[in-house]
Amino acid sequence: MIEPTSKLFASTVIALALLGSAAAAPPIPNPDSLPIGVSRVLWEISVPADAAPTPQKVALGEKLFNDVRLSTNDKVSCATCHDPAKGFVDGKPLAEGVAAPKEKTKRHSPTVLNAVFNATQFWDGRAATLEDQAKLPITNPIEMGQKDGAAVMQKVLAIPEYQTAFKETFGRDGTFDDLAAAISAFERTQVSSQAPFDRWVAGEDNAISPAAKRGWGLFNGKARCNTCHAFSTTSPTFSDQRFHNIGIAAHKTDFIELARRAVGIVKSGDLKQIDEIAIQSDLTELGRFLVTKHANDVGAFKTPGLRDIAVTAPYMHDGSLATLWDVMDHYNKGGIPNPNLDGGMQRLGLTEPQIDDVVAFMQSLTSDRFAALAKTETAKQQARKKDRPERDTDVAMGRKGHLGDIAPDPNPAKPAAFGVLVTEGTAYAERR
Ligand code: HEC
Ligand code: HEC
Repeated sequence: MIEPTSKLFASTVIALALLGSAAAAPPIPNPDSLPIGVSRVLWEISVPADAAPTPQKVALGEKLFNDVRLSTNDKVSCATCHDPAKGFVDGKPLAEGVAAPKEKTKRHSPTVLNAVFNATQFWDGRAATLEDQAKLPITNPIEMGQKDGAAVMQKVLAIPEYQTAFKETFGRDGTFDDLAAAISAFERTQVSSQAPFDRWVAGEDNAISPAAKRGWGLFNGKARCNTCHAFSTTSPTFSDQRFHNIGIAAHKTDFIELARRAVGIVKSGDLKQIDEIAIQSDLTELGRFLVTKHANDVGAFKTPGLRDIAVTAPYMHDGSLATLWDVMDHYNKGGIPNPNLDGGMQRLGLTEPQIDDVVAFMQSLTSDRFAALAKTETAKQQARKKDRPERDTDVAMGRKGHLGDIAPDPNPAKPAAFGVLVTEGTAYAERR
């Protein structure tokens, strides 16, 4: 009789703990128990069978993720730049590691939420797996500063609790690969879904505001966002997993000169060298080009997912846009022109209320876990709404420049037609 009571007690404690902590960790996902919005197919594509997160690996990985002793100066952990309580970001435009404040990195820390579903890791996709990714910041001279894998393992395995934990988890003295595997197991549990938007899609009509619903229509239509931030059951993170030049770095860089310099320096396939160039040099702005050396990848970066976007400001690979309104202003004028600007970038002609609607839609992608944080972050962004350095209404509305025709406003009476051009004379139109 004692058992059920203690079980009940235990689950009550867990429930209370969940209520008490704003950023309570989600349960470990497995194919039979996945968060709303994550399909079994997606999970199986994303998580190799031998890399499935087990409670033991996850616990060790979480500890390592938060441990500053992985860095040379005992001050920087993964969590320094990917703080779990802040949506796994640092809130800074450019990431700061062991060399700060003297030297910052050249890129902005993306969130680790949903990194499990990334087809490639990093803004330029240079790492194929979470395991490959995790090793690079540890050995990057200005992020965590370790000379190599052996150096960090020597330090970690001198700590008795890790010695035991690695033995228990992997059945041997820990290796650098084991350390990367444990950290990756923890990252694979950090799934962001369970947002008001998901409940709306699942049929709960009042789960999101009318503004967010209009924003969803615009996102798939006039604002053209879905051409890159695609959403489907196998792509619930709102990313096409591809690389595009949307003209973020264009105003501060001569791409042609940079590319010319890079061709002589970059050794194809040398991951460590590419990592140092991306994190520490001005060539960073070449983006995907550093990995492929294809001319059409100059200035192209990975399309990030949009879940929990309200809590992960500032935005873009260089952290140059402070708010979601700045992001909208950037897109509304068609980005910053440059020789490699993606063909999908055009002036949008969105009005101010329409911009607010798309922002409201993006805010509906906040998972329940970060709802409280989103409130304070949104208030901060709202306070900056009058300060709009990226706004160029004349270009956006077509009174200046030539960036093509704008798409029509979506018809709210026909939500099924969002993102589909239904004109007279098409099969769809004739059925009505
Ligand atoms: C000094 C700050 C810093 C530290 C420490 C750091 N990161 Fe990062 N992280 C970054 C930056 C900056 C990027 C993007 C770099 C790029 O794309 O070139 C990044 C990218 C990532 C990504 C890729 C996400 C995506 O969307 O592509 C993952 C996953 C990640 N880090 C996990 C980790 C883990 C695990 C650790 C600890 C072993 C760690 N990071 C340590 C700053 C940091
Ligand atoms: C042509 C493809 C493309 C289109 C169209 C597009 N995006 Fe993006 N988006 C990207 C890429 C690529 C990045 C990262 C660019 C960079 O950092 O240089 C990005 C970044 C973002 C970010 C910042 C994410 C972060 O974590 O920093 C937001 C927010 C965003 N897009 C929202 C939108 C919205 C809203 C629209 C429609 C108005 C839109 N995007 C249209 C490709 C696109």
